[in-house]
Amino acid sequence: MDLEKLLSDRLAPAFAAVAGGPVDPLVRRSPRADFQSDAALALARRLGRPPRDIAAAVLAHAVLDDVGVSAEVSGPGFLNLTVTDRALADLVAGLAGDARLGVPPTATPQTVVVDYSAPNVAKEMHVGHLRSTVIGDAAVRLLEWLGHRVVRVNHLGDWGTPFGMLIEHLIDLGEAEAAQNLSMGDLDTFYRAARVAFDADEAFQERSRLRVVALQGGDERTRRLWRLLVTQSERYFLTVYDLLDVTLSAADFRGESAYNDLLAGVVDDLDRLGLLLPSGGAECVFPPGFTGRDGEPLPLIVRKSDGGYGYPATDLAALRQRVGELGATRLLYVVGLPQRQHFAMVFAVAEAAGWLCPPARAEHLGFGSILGADGRMLRSRAGESVKLVGLLEEAVARATDLARSRNPDLDAGTAEEIGRAVGIGAIKYADLSVDRTKDYVLDWERMLALDGNTAPYLQYAYARIRSVLRRAGTAVRPDVPIVVAQPAERALAVELLGFAAVVGELEQSFEFHQLAGYLHRLATVFNAFYERCPVLRATDELRESRLLLAELTARTLRQGLRLLGIRTVERM
Ligand code: ARG
Repeated sequence: MDLEKLLSDRLAPAFAAVAGGPVDPLVRRSPRADFQSDAALALARRLGRPPRDIAAAVLAHAVLDDVGVSAEVSGPGFLNLTVTDRALADLVAGLAGDARLGVPPTATPQTVVVDYSAPNVAKEMHVGHLRSTVIGDAAVRLLEWLGHRVVRVNHLGDWGTPFGMLIEHLIDLGEAEAAQNLSMGDLDTFYRAARVAFDADEAFQERSRLRVVALQGGDERTRRLWRLLVTQSERYFLTVYDLLDVTLSAADFRGESAYNDLLAGVVDDLDRLGLLLPSGGAECVFPPGFTGRDGEPLPLIVRKSDGGYGYPATDLAALRQRVGELGATRLLYVVGLPQRQHFAMVFAVAEAAGWLCPPARAEHLGFGSILGADGRMLRSRAGESVKLVGLLEEAVARATDLARSRNPDLDAGTAEEIGRAVGIGAIKYADLSVDRTKDYVLDWERMLALDGNTAPYLQYAYARIRSVLRRAGTAVRPDVPIVVAQPAERALAVELLGFAAVVGELEQSFEFHQLAGYLHRLATVFNAFYERCPVLRATDELRESRLLLAELTARTLRQGLRLLGIRTVERM
């Protein structure tokens, strides 16, 4: 049972009685007691009465003894809440017997489409795609663990005018050679070479233009060559996903081209609904509330002046398909913040057209950029965007070296396993432990450090507990009586009981840094407990109880990290 919620549920009726209507008791962790409620202050202002009187009146109405909670009015009108040792022990015993660590599966399972990763064919994945992949995969893991039906969609950029030039370049290079380059991940070289040919050679430009027409017209050979570009790129992206240890698979690719046949219908229907307006030769929708810098209404272009459909039309068709065909009631788009306005406009148009209406809703989970040590957008020394695999390989190599240097007699296989878990874990954690809407600086030293708010710190805390449990020699019994008496035991118990509330919040907020912060706190509180309360040297019931607390901590760390897509290792 989640302690904050329990306290909140108990205080809410008391507040309601005093206020004459519902009041959120605002229960939170307290430096003065186990928890505190601050709601009396605002209520007092509203009722024009002294806050301490209000707090006292609430206390008089609150039923708390039966759950082992004592309360007192403190300071200007806070309620300090202290849970008895006995009550804490009982609650922790409940956790120990629960495979889900107090987190209930959702009572209202939904079909959720998570649109994430979405790199572009024949183009290197950049760090923006890394963030989308890492955050999106965490969202998927969380939602699935809560019991939702999740549909992963990898909205691959596999269509548009650049494909004329890419196919012509493929022809010039020879199919076998091109396929080889692409599947090896040499996407940028391929793309750049195509660009160079395009810029230098008018005949090539003309061929490219004709090729686009052939592609759109369904010409068989052109389609086959285009397929080749797509499959080779997909093959390469899958190797990145494998290295990155994310749950995306080949079955989740559903590129922009998958919606081609739906685009004309989208535009026709918008027209029929009277939402379409011509503007500069293009056909547009002007959703209310969107204006440019000059105050002029902003268009969402659904059909370009050359008659082609673009990115916005594709997203409208995809949204419609996700709600209509897949039956999704929640649509998540894990895409960088520069596309915020695009999604806001797409959602607004979809609502106006009646394609997006309750219970279905769409959310853009935006994120900031990854910066280099100089505080600018991450670039390689040559000034190009940094190649993602290079980054991942470097992380694994650095972590493997660290593991070897700390532990010279590790066999090669184990060192590699640890290096992978820690290196990839460090990359993901560096991303997920900061507010996702903020930029962050990629800092190898910091993200691989064994202390601080890092993956290695948490993985090390986990491995250390596992080592204690191994040395204990006996299996931990989940039903031993739990002793919560020392301050460090209390602190650990309260922290363990907080997991459910933190995870519960994520379902709406997807603020994974809150979970990261929680895990970091838990590991720190555990380390203090381990320093002050002997575990292996304790005897009898106390030993068993402390082993159980240790094991529960390990399980919570592992589950928390698993939700972030980060592996644990048994030794480090
Ligand atoms: N391929 C796009 C890019 O690289 C991201 C696509 C995001 N998803 C979407 N449904 N628009 O920027």
